[in-house]
Amino acid sequence: MNETMRVIMERRSIRKYKSQQVADSELQQILDAALYAPNAMNQQKWHFTVIQNKDMLDKMVDIIKENIMNSGNEFFIKRVSTPGYHTFYNAPSVVFITADESAQWVEIDCGLAAENITLAATALNIGTCVITSAGLLFASEKGNALRKELGIPEGYKFVCSVALGYKDCENPAAPPRNKEVINYVK
Ligand SMILES: Cc1cc2nc3c(=O)[nH]c(=O)nc-3n(C[C@H](O)[C@H](O)[C@H](O)COP(=O)(O)O)c2cc1C
Repeated sequence: MNETMRVIMERRSIRKYKSQQVADSELQQILDAALYAPNAMNQQKWHFTVIQNKDMLDKMVDIIKENIMNSGNEFFIKRVSTPGYHTFYNAPSVVFITADESAQWVEIDCGLAAENITLAATALNIGTCVITSAGLLFASEKGNALRKELGIPEGYKFVCSVALGYKDCENPAAPPRNKEVINYVK
């Protein structure tokens, strides 16, 4: 199989990571891939916050849990109540992708950057998981108070996060895909 196709087909959401930190040289390549994602009018109204401090990540998870417990959302409450719950699956690195809330198309730009991160990481045998539930961090004042410490630019909103780390599991099987979503007009 063509190498690019192999990487696309082999990328899986990884939910078990080693504690060993991702090598800086590999992380730099992954972040470069993010910056080279297609983006509307090359506006680059995105920001990438790379969090590698375990205490900070655990603090964020505590606030996310608290916010979920206060949300009344039964699905999420059940999920965070399971033993060992950690929004980022204890990944040693997490990239928060935020975007200028006044710019157009930024969700698409950031989604494409997130995909480039996951594919570049897969090519380097590094596991990833796109995680949007992390956005619940900003559902309380306590969470928003971390914006400055995290270096999120003023006027930027959360789009998604990507957990990164060396896999501590076999590559999971791909969840099934519905092939009935394509039609052709020839
Ligand atoms: C926009 C988006 C949000 C996601 N949010 C979460 C999340 O909060 N937690 C999680 O464990 N996985 C999350 N995922 C991963 C999906 O569950 C996963 O991509 C999907 O089940 C397909 O599996 P695969 O990535 O292994 O192909 C998210 C993926 C996307 C694209």
